[in-house]
Amino acid sequence: MESSEFVAEVEGVWKVYITRGASIPALRGVSLRIRRGEFLCIMGPSGSGKTTLLNLIGGLDSTSKGRILIDGIDLTGLSTSELSRLRHSLMGYIFQSFNLISVLNAVENVELPLIFDPIEGEELRTRAKALLERVGLGHRLTHRPSELSGGEQQRVAVSRALISNPHIVLADEPTANLDGKTGREILELMKKLNREDKVSFIIATHDRRVTEFADRVVNLIDGEVVGEEIVKEGSPALNK
Ligand SMILES: Nc1ncnc2c1ncn2[C@@H]1O[C@H](COP(=O)(O)OP(=O)(O)O)[C@@H](O)[C@H]1O
Ligand SMILES: [Mg+2]
Repeated sequence: MESSEFVAEVEGVWKVYITRGASIPALRGVSLRIRRGEFLCIMGPSGSGKTTLLNLIGGLDSTSKGRILIDGIDLTGLSTSELSRLRHSLMGYIFQSFNLISVLNAVENVELPLIFDPIEGEELRTRAKALLERVGLGHRLTHRPSELSGGEQQRVAVSRALISNPHIVLADEPTANLDGKTGREILELMKKLNREDKVSFIIATHDRRVTEFADRVVNLIDGEVVGEEIVKEGSPALNK
């Protein structure tokens, strides 16, 4: 699985939504390659195609044209069950509105992606607790989402995204529902996990603050990549 130097490759991708007879080209020939360990920001205004692009990279939707490779594997050729296995083992997802299960507590939410996996309940619990401790929530293990602040809920969601040791974490507007200070804390946390675990992060946002944390920023407008900036010296984005 470690064969490709890129965790994700987007090659000439188009996505056209057909709704009530109208066709909306949300992505128009996007090409992009994401390196192992890279912290990539996809920046663009509302409606530019960011969520569409993340959903395609995450295997949640299929391209109209072009292809997506994850760890060198072309998603187009996979059966539904192969695709869901690949998603399950290689990807983590973080959303704007946290998407935690309200009747489960913090540890149970973090365990959820792996509860049907062949892993001892006790080992899973230990892993989930360790992750929550890493994100600073060791004292909130049995709290339910309604008993947690927005920032704390997003920390639970970050832990849930990492429970399967994914190669890529996809985060769609992860700071949009958080105040400035809390948003920054979540970004710092994601950056720390990115560095420590060498897991790639792809963050879609219209929040300029995210660019401070990114190795590379790709600008998307009207479904097209209109430019990119490499932010940090020595970032994985510069590896040749
Ligand atoms: N399921 C859908 N059906 C039809 N049009 C869609 C759908 N999802 C997104 N779009 C359209 O595609 C374009 C890009 O949307 P989106 O990817 O959500 O952009 P962003 O996340 O940057 O705000 C928009 O014009 C949006 O209205
Ligand atoms: Mg969006």
